[in-house]
Amino acid sequence: MIDLRTEFAGLHLKNPLIVSSSGLTGSVEKNERLELAGAGAIVLKSLFEEQIMLKAEQTNEQAYIPEGGNFLTEHIHEKDLSDYLKLIQESKKNCSIPIIASINCCTDTEWIEFVRKIEQAGADALELNILSIQASPYYECGEFEKNHISILKNVKSKIRIPVIVKLGTHLTNPVSLINKLRAQGAEGIVLFNRLYQTDIDIKKLEYISGEVLSSPSDLTASLRWIGISSATVSNIDYAASGGVHSAEAAIKSILVGASAVELCSVIYKTGSQCIRPMLKTIENWMTEKGFENISQFKGLMRAKDVNCANMYERTQFLRYFSERE
Ligand SMILES: Cc1cc2nc3c(=O)[nH]c(=O)nc-3n(C[C@H](O)[C@H](O)[C@H](O)COP(=O)(O)O)c2cc1C
Repeated sequence: MIDLRTEFAGLHLKNPLIVSSSGLTGSVEKNERLELAGAGAIVLKSLFEEQIMLKAEQTNEQAYIPEGGNFLTEHIHEKDLSDYLKLIQESKKNCSIPIIASINCCTDTEWIEFVRKIEQAGADALELNILSIQASPYYECGEFEKNHISILKNVKSKIRIPVIVKLGTHLTNPVSLINKLRAQGAEGIVLFNRLYQTDIDIKKLEYISGEVLSSPSDLTASLRWIGISSATVSNIDYAASGGVHSAEAAIKSILVGASAVELCSVIYKTGSQCIRPMLKTIENWMTEKGFENISQFKGLMRAKDVNCANMYERTQFLRYFSERE
């Protein structure tokens, strides 16, 4: 009998396939359907700190891409906050799987008070998507990482539900940051968020969005950093996000140390009906390999010698790229 149950950030999941924060999880009806489709947990569509702070005009002035500012001005309403709390309450009432709220944030400011309401609304956990790009010429190395720590510290002082931090890909040393986040009480880490993809329409000479959805090859970043981080920083759970498009990708993520995976693009591309076949393929693989539960293979292929990670990276680079004509 194959047991797909897993623990992630103090939550008991019936299987490791979590539906990622996105428009896929933005209504109660969608969440009910995702549960029926077999999801192990749901991360709700993010509320942005700008929505909480109602700083639309200010954000508009600062926006780098003009349509980004207009979008915020048009879409931020005070009503969003009560709607979000209702989404948590109703999703909790209608679904039996864990419901994780999500806030997309970048500053350690007053918005953080709002997390108390998220807890009161009944969310099982809170995922913080700390999303920002650093482009100031006066930026001091490490400031962005320190910001993560102070946001988390402040959030943790307000609520008791588990807090999960979803990180972006552009960090010099995710391991060191994860170690500090763990010390401040983060229960889970998601590697990685997907940044807005910048592209240019050369006919219209306009900035446009690049490919919104990921591709399976994006998984490599999560495999590398979960493999290294889980070998170095234990006592914290990991979930892979970014390029998990198949059961095989989920298995690889668990092999490097993830407790769960978050699915987004694959559901946009193929629908939530992809979840059950993925679970079946994981079960079949486990049977073939003689594993009865997730913990028997979780982390089996995490980095063996983390001190050699840099040397490994450099020698592989040398091997594959310098020999290629
Ligand atoms: C259309 C779309 C909307 C998204 N909205 C959110 C969001 O509200 N909050 C968030 O944390 N991530 C959001 N994401 C990022 C996803 O949760 C996920 O981390 C990312 O797409 C990488 O996973 P994937 O390769 O499975 O797509 C969104 C992604 C997409 C494609």
